[in-house]
Amino acid sequence: MTVGFRSPQGVRIARDGSTARHRPWRRRSRTMTADAVRSAIPPPDRQAYRTGTAAIMVRLLRESYAEVAPRAEEATRFFYAMLFAIAPATRELFAANMEVQRSRFWRALVHIVQNFDRPDELVPFLHQLGRDHRKFGVLDAHYDAMGTALVTSLKQYAGAAWTPQVEKAWSDAYGLIAKTMQEAAEAEPGPAWWTARVVDHHRLTWDLAVVRVTPDRPVPYRAGQYVGVEVPQRPRLWRYLSPANAPRPDGSIEFHVRAVPGGSVSRSIVGHTQVGDTWRIGAPMGLMTVDRGSDRDVVMVAGGTGTAPMRAILEELSGWGDNPEVTMFVGGRTRADLHDLDTLTALAATNPWLKVIPVVESYPRMVGMEYGTLADVVTRFGAWPDRDVLVCGSPVMIRATVSRMLVAGTALDRIIYDPFTLD
Ligand code: HEM
Repeated sequence: MTVGFRSPQGVRIARDGSTARHRPWRRRSRTMTADAVRSAIPPPDRQAYRTGTAAIMVRLLRESYAEVAPRAEEATRFFYAMLFAIAPATRELFAANMEVQRSRFWRALVHIVQNFDRPDELVPFLHQLGRDHRKFGVLDAHYDAMGTALVTSLKQYAGAAWTPQVEKAWSDAYGLIAKTMQEAAEAEPGPAWWTARVVDHHRLTWDLAVVRVTPDRPVPYRAGQYVGVEVPQRPRLWRYLSPANAPRPDGSIEFHVRAVPGGSVSRSIVGHTQVGDTWRIGAPMGLMTVDRGSDRDVVMVAGGTGTAPMRAILEELSGWGDNPEVTMFVGGRTRADLHDLDTLTALAATNPWLKVIPVVESYPRMVGMEYGTLADVVTRFGAWPDRDVLVCGSPVMIRATVSRMLVAGTALDRIIYDPFTLD
């Protein structure tokens, strides 16, 4: 006998999280591929998109989401409470403290809604997320329960904006999102995670450490990507870190970690990591890279430990030979925050295609430094037309830099950043 209860939508939900009958997001065929997702969500410049059902769906998602957004935190709390009520087994997958996770899930949702009509960005993002979710032990039934929890929470907080059409749009959208993630997870032949041994840990300052690990087998990341990391001092609290080196023949990876206020994982890595610790590393994610086939030059904008993926890319570029010109802005509040400046300057000294511009926010003045925020300084140099722009740093820094560059005239599709690297 199925033990369960009725959700506010009238859906019968079993204790394992599976819904007994009504699963609106399952209306589409189980065999829908990413190509089918692409054609279901045509690009915005097509006439069919402007008038067709896909356009209406995207409009409904965005409009109803806008109603929920001002109460996003409340809605996310409600969502997780609902998920754990209808599928109690999922609670064990999450850490006791859900603060960071709540904001990550919501940011992912915003990112998905914003990019729903850009399948070329959305599909790779969902594929990576689906592959990465294998490390949490997520099952198909959990996706179903999450769909119920999500649609119910949005309904609760969208108020009068919630209509049967909006409900169908969200159900269909969640179906596509979950299916795209699940398909990528099923198709992935590699392991759900790698184990890696800490072979070096040294503190550069009281709040910054460099940690080198050697995985049991090479992690197949590209320079510029990031990986989820779980450390033994903080089980089940996965945090994203970017390797600061391009893949090496011995597979070793260097991470630069700053202890952030309230960041129990980063503080524990900086303060308590021991040589010999075993870390778990998740599937590589992120789209930041330099396109070798492009003839465009590159601008890099890196704040704090956001220099790590840029350094990995530069290391890879220095092995190429025929390189694009790279102008790299490296920023921090004070000179002491530019922990990697000496290495980057040394790299620039031997690679004429690289120019490094240090940026600090506070005085006293020092020769060769620019003053202001990264957003101020980068846009002071102009709009950087005809360049690809890579941005990495805190979410605040990314938001400020990207929006100021857009105002300055940089084209949105030339700016590359990963929204989930730092919390
Ligand atoms: C629409 C589907 C989903 C989206 C967009 C989504 C999004 C995310 C994001 C952005 C993260 C943070 C990234 C990370 O730590 O790797 C995350 C973490 C996580 N997700 Fe999901 N997720 C989805 C489905 C699910 C499902 C069905 C489950 C199972 C109940 C699940 C369980 C988890 C867990 C356990 C974590 C780690 C939490 C932590 O580190 O504290 N997710 N999810």
